[in-house]
Amino acid sequence: MSAETPAERFSGYYATQPPWDIGRPQEAFVAACDLIGPRVLDAGCGTGDLAIWLAGRGHAVTGVDFLAGPIEIARAKAQAAGVVANFLEMDALAIGEIPETFDAVTDCGLFHTFDDARRSAYVAALTRLLEPGARVFILCFSPAEPGEHGPRRVSEAELRAAFAVGWDVEAIEPARFEVVPGVPGAEFTPGGAHAWFVRVRRT
Ligand SMILES: C[S@@+](CC[C@H](N)C(=O)[O-])C[C@H]1O[C@@H](n2cnc3c(N)ncnc32)[C@H](O)[C@@H]1O
Repeated sequence: MSAETPAERFSGYYATQPPWDIGRPQEAFVAACDLIGPRVLDAGCGTGDLAIWLAGRGHAVTGVDFLAGPIEIARAKAQAAGVVANFLEMDALAIGEIPETFDAVTDCGLFHTFDDARRSAYVAALTRLLEPGARVFILCFSPAEPGEHGPRRVSEAELRAAFAVGWDVEAIEPARFEVVPGVPGAEFTPGGAHAWFVRVRRT
C-alpha cells in the first residue's frame, strides 16, 4: 500500500473544517504588518485569509497553494471582499521559477509541514525567488507545543540552520498558532499552539 502524499493529506483536511482555517489572519502577521513590504507572495495560502487581508491593506498579493479546492475558495472570498489578489495553484517548491519580484513571502503554517528534503528545496526556492533586502515571515510550530499531534515542531537551531547561507535571521520570537476550537485535529494548547514567528532577510 502506498503512503499518503502531502497533497492527499491536506485534501483530507479540506474535506471538512481544517483546524488552521480560522477565517482571519493569524495575529502574529497582523502585529508584523508594517514590516511586510508592498509586493507579497503568500506561500501555502490555503483559503486566502492572510492574502486577502494584506490585499485589503493595499499590498499586491499572490497566494500560492498546491490544492485547487482552497485556491477556488480563496478566489471567491477575494471577490466577495471586493479585493484584488492573484491566486495560483502551484507547488511552493516551484516558486523560485515565478518571474516576478516580491518584497516579502509570508508563510503561515507551510514551513513546518516539510520533511528535511522538502525544507531544503523550499529554502532554495525562496533564495532563488527573492532579491537582497526581501523578507520571509514564517509562523511555525515550536518545541514548546507539547505532544506530537499535528505538524512537526521546528527548533530554533533548525531555523537558523535552514537560513544559514544567503539570509540574515532577524527575529525568532515565541508566538501562538490559533486554531478553530473544538474541530477534529485542533487539540492544542488553549489560546493557540506554541509557535515561532520568524523573520529572515535575504542578503
Ligand atoms: C497549515 S495549512 C495553512 C494554510 C493557510 N496559510 C492558513 O494559514 O490558513 C498549510 C497549507 O499549505 C498547503 N501546502 C502544503 N504543502 C504545499 C506545497 N508543497 N506547495 C503549496 N502548498 C502547500 C496546504 O494545501 C495548506 O493549504
